Amino acid sequence: MGLMVSSLLQLDRVDNKLIMIGGKGGVGKTTCAAALALHFALAGRKTLVISSDPTPSLSDIFENPIGDRETVIQGIKGLYGIEISSDVVLEMWRRRFGPEIYEVISSFANLDYDFVDYIGTAPGIEEEYMLNYILDLVEGGQYDLVVWDTAPAGHTLRLLHLPHIFLKHLEAATKFYLNIYSYFEKVKDSVRLRKGKRSLLEIISSWENLAEKIVRFIRDQSKTSFILVTIPEALGVKQTERIIKDFDQYQLTVRYLVINHVIESADCSFHEAKQKMQRMYLKALDKKYGHRIEIVHVGESPQEVKGIDRINEISQILFPSRR
Ligand SMILES: Nc1ncnc2c1ncn2[C@@H]1O[C@H](COP(=O)(O)OP(=O)(O)OP(=O)(O)O)[C@@H](O)[C@H]1O
Ligand SMILES: [Mg+2]
Repeated sequence: MGLMVSSLLQLDRVDNKLIMIGGKGGVGKTTCAAALALHFALAGRKTLVISSDPTPSLSDIFENPIGDRETVIQGIKGLYGIEISSDVVLEMWRRRFGPEIYEVISSFANLDYDFVDYIGTAPGIEEEYMLNYILDLVEGGQYDLVVWDTAPAGHTLRLLHLPHIFLKHLEAATKFYLNIYSYFEKVKDSVRLRKGKRSLLEIISSWENLAEKIVRFIRDQSKTSFILVTIPEALGVKQTERIIKDFDQYQLTVRYLVINHVIESADCSFHEAKQKMQRMYLKALDKKYGHRIEIVHVGESPQEVKGIDRINEISQILFPSRR
């Protein structure tokens, strides 16, 4: 076919702390995340694979119950998993920020604590807190590597809009809020709502700092790698283009593009036709990104990928030296 097909072997040589797997629904993100995590655990790095999917996908693929607490994945030394839902994330967020939000807001407005929940649903907050939670795990030093099976494509990028989206959300909720916000802008440090307590402005700016710290971490290619998973179909190509464009815009680099479900050998007219269709998209992706992104093909297998042995087969495709 004349396409240069690569592997993930270079990842063995960089000492990344975080690997993020993204892509549209159903393309094989969880499969790849599991295969990567297994590979690194078998290579002797203490690895945590974390899924922020609402459905328990890691439990299914590893055939092992994994909950919202770090769980040893049976039989594999150094392999741990967490499945974390947005409810748990919101709860953590509430515990961390709830009291300070409530304290500040309730000192000038007669609001009940539900308002904290409302702020907690601000677009971007969940992603930010998820990233912050994962960064805590990464920086906690308990693991050599964290592999993150992310929620829907490009979702995490919203975090980069956080301060803006956040303020808009508040504006929609309470018109007066922004007036007070601008009042704080004017009086800045000269006024404190309560002695010794942080002002709203300070709280918002501490959130902004948090977002910036996270962005710095995920932009640093010595620490974080992004792997995008796609399929050789029109929709896959379109989505890939869109995500990479977003990444470019935020100075984030996609290092690897895994093209999954590639038909490698065709022994019937159905598969021949499908293979022909796929070639068109494989070529298009190669032409567009081959010069700057390592492209890896994963063949369509007749079986679903479930259980350690099958996951390991995918690991060996991604990291061919272990074959
Ligand atoms: N190369 C492959 N050959 C055959 N089946 C595959 C392959 N890769 C993945 N699958 C199967 O495709 C299904 C979807 O894969 P997976 O769950 O990894 O996708 P996903 O991107 O995580 O989906 P979601 O967006 O729903 O989380 C699974 O049943 C998996 O076993
Ligand atoms: Mg998944």
